Amino acid sequence: MLMKLIMKHSKPYIGWICAVLVLQLLTTIATLYLPSLNARIIDKGVTLGDVDFIWSTGRVMLAVAFVQVLTAVAAVYFGAKTAMAIGRDLRREVFSSVTKFSAQDVNKFGAATLITRGTNDVQQVQMLVLMGLNFMVSAPIMCIGGVIMALREDPGLSWLVWVSVPVLFVVVGILVFFLMPLFREMQERIDAINGVLREQITGLRVVRAFVREKHETERFEDANQKLTRVGVRVGNLFVLMFPLIGMILHIATAAVLWFGGHRVDAGLVQVGALTAFLQYLLQILMAVMMGTFMAMMIPRAMVCADRIGEVLDTTPSMVDPDTDSGTTPVDGTVAFNNVSFGYEGAESHVLSNISFTARPGQTTAIIGSTGAGKTTLLNLIPRLYEASEGAITIGGVPVSELSRAQLSSLVAAVPQRPYLFSGTVASNLRFGATDATEDELWDALTIAQAKDFVSEREGGLESTVSQGGTNVSGGQRQRLCIARAIAARPSIYLFDDSFSALDVATDARLRAALQEPTKDATVIIVAQRVSTITEADQIIVLDDGQVSAVGTHSELLESSATYQEIVQSQLSAQEAA
Ligand code: UTP
Ligand code: MG
Repeated sequence: MLMKLIMKHSKPYIGWICAVLVLQLLTTIATLYLPSLNARIIDKGVTLGDVDFIWSTGRVMLAVAFVQVLTAVAAVYFGAKTAMAIGRDLRREVFSSVTKFSAQDVNKFGAATLITRGTNDVQQVQMLVLMGLNFMVSAPIMCIGGVIMALREDPGLSWLVWVSVPVLFVVVGILVFFLMPLFREMQERIDAINGVLREQITGLRVVRAFVREKHETERFEDANQKLTRVGVRVGNLFVLMFPLIGMILHIATAAVLWFGGHRVDAGLVQVGALTAFLQYLLQILMAVMMGTFMAMMIPRAMVCADRIGEVLDTTPSMVDPDTDSGTTPVDGTVAFNNVSFGYEGAESHVLSNISFTARPGQTTAIIGSTGAGKTTLLNLIPRLYEASEGAITIGGVPVSELSRAQLSSLVAAVPQRPYLFSGTVASNLRFGATDATEDELWDALTIAQAKDFVSEREGGLESTVSQGGTNVSGGQRQRLCIARAIAARPSIYLFDDSFSALDVATDARLRAALQEPTKDATVIIVAQRVSTITEADQIIVLDDGQVSAVGTHSELLESSATYQEIVQSQLSAQEAA
């Protein structure tokens, strides 16, 4: 998966990548060339007192060093540019995949992990690309080139290369072996801490209300401690790593000087060549270390790439049909024909054999106990979920044949849990009506009984709304959501329990004001209060996912025992109050 992702996303940047590789190659060659030039200056120039040779070789050295600096800087620049661009593309792709997800798909993953996958996981892959571009070419060439150059300087000391490289390799390998599972654990611990934090921030008010701070603090403390422990263990290994590597490098240096010194004494090798040999040995060891470090990043990036791949490879459980299917609903009639629905993974259906028709110009009310499936039923209409069996049609066209754009222009829903986006009141109201004028927005607010509080807010229509709409009250949020639906002027209005947060008087005023804009539209209202729906053209009593009765208020009072129970319970509650 990792290779597939990187391959696919590096294609557009192949030019930059080639540039990086060539630049790295040049840098490496220059780096390899310098010690040997240095050796010549010492052995020929200094030893023989040949000033001309020192000058001429010195000039070459300067030029090579200059090239090395330039290419190194350019390589890092292009490397970073490429890696960041690939990261950006990956994030974009994850995001666009997620936006195509149905509610079902999002539930399957969970919001928290989708966020982590789109940010942290992408970053890991991006980091590997960056490291890869920097060391993929240079490390092996440095290694092999270093060995060749070192042997050219003094073959007699070659055994030092053959001893020190494997020793370093084994030591770093052992450390990586212990580090790798820790890194994987670390990723999981970070996930856990994100989860706890997210839940606590979202549920802060509940935590306060129930004085659960202590419990929650402990829960966070626990996750935090676990992350700390892994971090400390990683730290311990790193603490060990640097002195160990340093020791190997220093022992290798000492060995070169010791054995090399004897060879210089014996006249087998010159001082300059010995210096060069030492530099080459250190370069080789550095390359081995970098290579191993990179190898260490691969498993972590692989886990992340798999997680990203899962998101990218998910085919949305609902596919948007061709916009050009040419089918346009004749009107806003919503018809359920023997519809059943079950949430994924649930054993039984939440809705079974639902059939009814909601006509334009009429109000259809749905009433039923908590958990009866009212919200689920409404969600099926704009196709947030796909019906498991049966068909839902709008104006004679099955919803599965309507494009998302068509559906959203036909249907405006006020969800049970009203949600606003960060921005202004106006930007939220224009969600379904991009080109609505200010007057139209004020009209919608007036109908939704939200005009007063909006005009009292500083900035009016342009007053800011925070993410989720948390800086307005629950009832205000609900009314803004109602105004948002009205501003869209749809053919079908869905109100999910939208009037329960309003006091009875406001509820009545709002419904009276709604008469005008909704007179030709299909209105479906889910309600808790019987008083909200007494005038509805038809009332559907939903009981445990099944239609238990359909009729008007007076008809149902006669015929439906369930409806009578509901009315009775509310009446007695009123009497008691
Ligand atoms: P609904 O959310 O449709 O019930 O869930 P409702 O009638 O609107 O309830 P209130 O009045 O707003 O409280 C119906 C059933 O579907 C299941 C729940 O178990 C619930 O009993 N359900 C709901 C899921 O399994 N997953 C969901 O995402 C939502
Ligand atoms: Mg509900």
